Amino acid sequence: MSKAVADLVDQYVVMGNPIEHSKSPTIQMAFAKQTQQQMDYVTCLVPIDQFNSVADQFFLTGMGCNITVPFKEQAFAYANVLTERAQFAGAVNTLKKQSDGSILGDNTDGIGLVTDILKNHGGKIKDQRILVLGAGGAVRGVLGPLLAEHPELLVIANRTESKAVALAEKFQARGNIETTGFQQLQGAPFDLIINGTAASLAGELPPIPESVLSAKTWCYDMMYSQTLTPFNRWATDLGVEKCIDGLGMLIEQAAEAFYVWRGVRPDTAPVIGQFQK
Ligand code: ATR
Repeated sequence: MSKAVADLVDQYVVMGNPIEHSKSPTIQMAFAKQTQQQMDYVTCLVPIDQFNSVADQFFLTGMGCNITVPFKEQAFAYANVLTERAQFAGAVNTLKKQSDGSILGDNTDGIGLVTDILKNHGGKIKDQRILVLGAGGAVRGVLGPLLAEHPELLVIANRTESKAVALAEKFQARGNIETTGFQQLQGAPFDLIINGTAASLAGELPPIPESVLSAKTWCYDMMYSQTLTPFNRWATDLGVEKCIDGLGMLIEQAAEAFYVWRGVRPDTAPVIGQFQK
């Protein structure tokens, strides 16, 4: 392709800090190739205090971007219009320039998690007893789509219980939610446990009792890792039915963002397969 033609290709980026290890360009360019969309997608390292100016500059010509740590709340504030799921998430991972020039803010993380559980793994959320570990931004982003699938009960457990309580208050109209600290977790084992804490990043395990697990429990660590995360290692050793890491969620949230931008839904299976090799 000549330089002049390349310049006409729609531009997309992922903004974050750090960003060099992001898998988003590989994923999005695989979607573009598969669906024959003429677009380019690269990483963009944003200085910590310059999100708005970098975004302003990008959208002079760019069409859309993904936002990752630590800018999702700033992207939420930056957007001119927000989808309902972004409003509930309180954070934006996808920005899109609309035809009138306004910037739409969306959040595709929660739908990415739900799609991975239901479609890729054939799991269940409806009528299930679900335990969510953590009460930070990552968990807030997924609660709305999880509750939309009507679990029987969703318990939020967090090291700092007051944060779980504050988060549950935001979502209480959307389903049956309870909160607890880690040590106070009790009752019947859960059907699905989702680790949304940052503990795995530090190689740590949230201190939860083994009684939350049974041989039928599914465990999901929202972190993607080449090797078993500490949480999934713990659950595997205790003999749970299934352990899943965040690879599928990463690819499904990317596919949903691609759909928001391009109006075309890519097939995620081959791209997931590419990363599992
Ligand atoms: P993120 O955007 O990744 O969710 P965050 O908003 O800072 O980041 O939230 C981090 C979450 O991981 C919190 O729920 C935090 O617990 P606290 O609210 O008690 O701080 C949790 N977390 C971080 N490190 C942890 C660890 N070692 N064990 C258990 N929970 C941890």
